[in-house]
Amino acid sequence: MSIILNFACFVIVSNYVFAELPSLYQYYTEDGIDYGLDDGDVYFRLNNKNITLFSGALHYFRVPKEYWGDRLRKYRAAGLNAVETYVPWNLHEYKNGMFDFGTGGSDFEDFLDVVSFIKLAKEEDLFVILRPGPYICAEWEFGGLPSWLLRYERIKVRTTDIQYMYFVRRYLKKLFNLLSPLQFTKGGAIIAIQIENEYGDTKDGDKPVDRAYLEQLKDIFQENGIVELLFTSDKPSLGFSGTLPGVLATANFQNNATNELTILKKFQPHKPLMVMEYWTGWYDHWTETHHTRSAKEFAGVFEEILSFGASVNLYMFHGGTNWGFLNGADVNDTSVDNAGYEPVISTYDYDAPLSEAGDYTDKYQKAREIISKHNKIMVKQPSMPDLKKRVVYPPIDVTGEISLDNLLRQSRIKISWNSTRLIPMELLPINDNSGQSFGYIVYKKTNINIPKNSTLTIEGRVCDTVLVLINGKLKSKILESKDDLEGFGYWKLKNSILNLGDKEYRQATLELVVENLGRVNYGKLYQFNQFKGLWQGNILLNGLKLEIEEIIPLEFRKSWTKELKNWQTYVFRSGPKLCKAELTVDEPRDTYLDMRNWHKGIVIINGFILSRYMKLGPQQTVYLPAPLLKKGANILLIFEHFIAQNKIEFVEDPIFQNI
Ligand SMILES: *[C@@H]1O[C@H](CO)[C@@H](O)[C@H](O)[C@H]1NC(C)=O
Ligand SMILES: *[C@@H]1O[C@H](CO)[C@@H](O)[C@H](O)[C@H]1NC(C)=O
Ligand SMILES: *[C@@H]1O[C@H](CO)[C@@H](O)[C@H](O)[C@H]1NC(C)=O
Ligand SMILES: *[C@@H]1O[C@H](CO)[C@@H](O)[C@H](O)[C@H]1NC(C)=O
Ligand SMILES: *[C@@H]1O[C@H](CO)[C@@H](O)[C@H](O)[C@H]1NC(C)=O
Repeated sequence: MSIILNFACFVIVSNYVFAELPSLYQYYTEDGIDYGLDDGDVYFRLNNKNITLFSGALHYFRVPKEYWGDRLRKYRAAGLNAVETYVPWNLHEYKNGMFDFGTGGSDFEDFLDVVSFIKLAKEEDLFVILRPGPYICAEWEFGGLPSWLLRYERIKVRTTDIQYMYFVRRYLKKLFNLLSPLQFTKGGAIIAIQIENEYGDTKDGDKPVDRAYLEQLKDIFQENGIVELLFTSDKPSLGFSGTLPGVLATANFQNNATNELTILKKFQPHKPLMVMEYWTGWYDHWTETHHTRSAKEFAGVFEEILSFGASVNLYMFHGGTNWGFLNGADVNDTSVDNAGYEPVISTYDYDAPLSEAGDYTDKYQKAREIISKHNKIMVKQPSMPDLKKRVVYPPIDVTGEISLDNLLRQSRIKISWNSTRLIPMELLPINDNSGQSFGYIVYKKTNINIPKNSTLTIEGRVCDTVLVLINGKLKSKILESKDDLEGFGYWKLKNSILNLGDKEYRQATLELVVENLGRVNYGKLYQFNQFKGLWQGNILLNGLKLEIEEIIPLEFRKSWTKELKNWQTYVFRSGPKLCKAELTVDEPRDTYLDMRNWHKGIVIINGFILSRYMKLGPQQTVYLPAPLLKKGANILLIFEHFIAQNKIEFVEDPIFQNI
C-alpha cells in the first residue's frame, strides 16, 4: 500500500516538476535582473544564483545563418548553457570606414548579422560569451584584423600605437553600439566579454608585454557601455603576462587540466576557475596529416576539468568552415619573411563534437553525458534535433571555361605600372583606398624578348604562391608532391629561380599570378607584417631588373564573377583557368564536392567563394551547405591552377587524405 502510494506520489511530483521546469533564462531571471555574472567568489553566480558555465564555441561567420538555429538547438540539447563567439573585424569593417553587420552590402553580408545571432542564442535559451578581439586568432585570416591596416606604414597592430588604436576605437564604438543593449543586465544574453586574445603569447623573450594596450581596450569597452564581466584568456603554464588586475584570467589548453587549473588557482585563488578554450580537437594545415582526437581522451580531460570545479567553454563545439579566402595561417618559427608559413585548410571541422555539416559524433554524446552528470540546475532542455540529410548529386559536366588571359581582360581594374619596385596587394590604390585584401594579384609585362634558357628570378619570398605564364601558358611546375612546395613557386624558397626553357620568345607577355593563401593569425607581434604578393625584391630576367607594366587584382568579387562573359566550350587542358558547371536541384540539400581529381584552386557557388582545395590534402572534399544553393540552376565555378577536369563529382561524407 505504502509502496503504491509512494509510487503515485512520485509520478505526480515528477509530472509536476516536468510541467513546471523553467527555461534556463527564466530560472536566472524570474525575480528580475539585478546582477550579471559575478566572479567575486570561487564560484560564479549569475543574478545571485550559482552557475557553472557549460559553454561551446560557435562562430556565426563560419556557419550559414539559416543553420544558426539548428546548431544552437544542438548546443542546448547537449546541455550546454552558453555559446561563445568571436567577432571578426576584417569582415565587419571590410573597407576602411565601411561596415557590414548584415546589411552593409559586402560579399559576406549574409554571415554578418551578429545582432540576430545573439538574439537567436537567447531564443534558444543560451547565454552568450562574446570575444570581440579586436584580434581574435581563431585560425582566421590575419586573426580577424583588416588587411587595410597595413596601408599605414608604421602601424603596429595589437599595441598602443596611436594609428592602430584610432581604428580600434572607431570599430569597437560601432560594434558595441549594436551589442551593448544585448548584455544580460540590459535584458539580453551576453554575460561575459573577453579583452583581446591570448595576448600573453605575444611575449617576445625578455621584452615586456604592452599591458597598456589591454588597459586601453578595457577603457574603450567600458566607455562604450560594456558592463558585464570582463576576462582575458591564456595558457596558464605559459604565464600571466596577458592578464590585467581586476579582470578575470581564464585558461586555454587541451591536456594537463589539473596542472593548468592548479597554476591558474594559485595565480587567482579567490576567483572562479574557467577554461575559456578547452580544445576538443584540432585544425589542419595544408599537407599535414588530418588531426583527430579520440572521444575517450576528450571525455577524460572534460571530466577532469569539471571535477576540478571549473567552468568550461568547449573550443570548438562546432567548427564550421573557413569560407573561400578566409583561413588563417601559422608561422613555425621566428621568421618575418614568410619562411615558416603554414596555411590552414578550408574546413574548420576541428574534429569537434558537432561535425562541419552538423552531424552528431561520439564526442557529442560524451559531452552530453558528462554535462548532465555535473549539472545541478534543473531547467528545460530540448531534445536532439534531427540531422539534415545530405545527398550525393549526380556528377555534372564542366560546360564552359575562361582562360586566364580572357579573365584578366575582363578585370575592371588594371593598374598601370612602370617601375621595377613592386607593391603588395594591400597597397594597391583600389577599393576606396583600402587596397586588396584577398585573392590573387597579377604582375604583367608585355613585349619582351626572352632568349633560350632564360632565367626568371624572384628576389625575396613569394607571398604565397606564384604561377609563371608566358603568352598565357603555364611555365612553372605543376604541383604534384609536397616536395614541390620546397621549389620555385612557393613561399619556402628565397630568391627563387625558374628556367624558362629552351624556347625563344619574341614580344612575349609574361604574367606572374600570385596567390594570397591566408594571412598569419598567430605569432609574435613582429610577425604581423602580412603583405601579400611580390614585394620583397625585384623580378630579374637573366639577371636584369624587369619593369612590370601592369598590376591586375583578381579578387573574384561576387558582382564580377556573376557578370563574366566570353565563356568558351570546355576543352580538357591545362590551367590556370576558370571552369563552369551548372548544378540543377529540385530541393537544396547539403552535399560535399569531391575534389580528388582536381589539383589546386578555389570553388565558387553562385558567386560566393566557397573554399580552397589542394590535391596534397589532407582536405579532399568541400562542404556545400544547402542554404548556398537555390531551387533550379546553380552556377558552380572552379578556378584551377594546374589541370582541370571535365566533371565535378559529389560525395556524402568528407574525405581527408594526403597524396
Ligand atoms: C553555491 O555554490 C557554493 C560552492 O559550491 C556552495 O557552497 C553554495 O552552497 C551554493 N549556493 C547555493 C544557493 O546552492
Ligand atoms: C603538465 O604540466 C607539467 C607542469 O607544467 C609539466 O611538467 C608536464 O610536462 C605537463 N605534461 C604534459 C603532458 O603536457
Ligand atoms: C620552419 O620552416 C622552414 C621552412 O620550411 C624550415 O626551414 C625550418 O626548419 C622550420 N623551422 C622549425 C623550427 O621548424
Ligand atoms: C611612371 O609613372 C609615374 C606615376 O604614374 C609617372 O609620374 C611617370 O611619369 C611614369 N614614368 C614613365 C617613364 O612613364
Ligand atoms: C640550354 O641549356 C641546355 C641544358 O643546360 C644546353 O644543353 C643548351 O645548350 C642550352 N642552350 C643554349 C642556347 O644556351
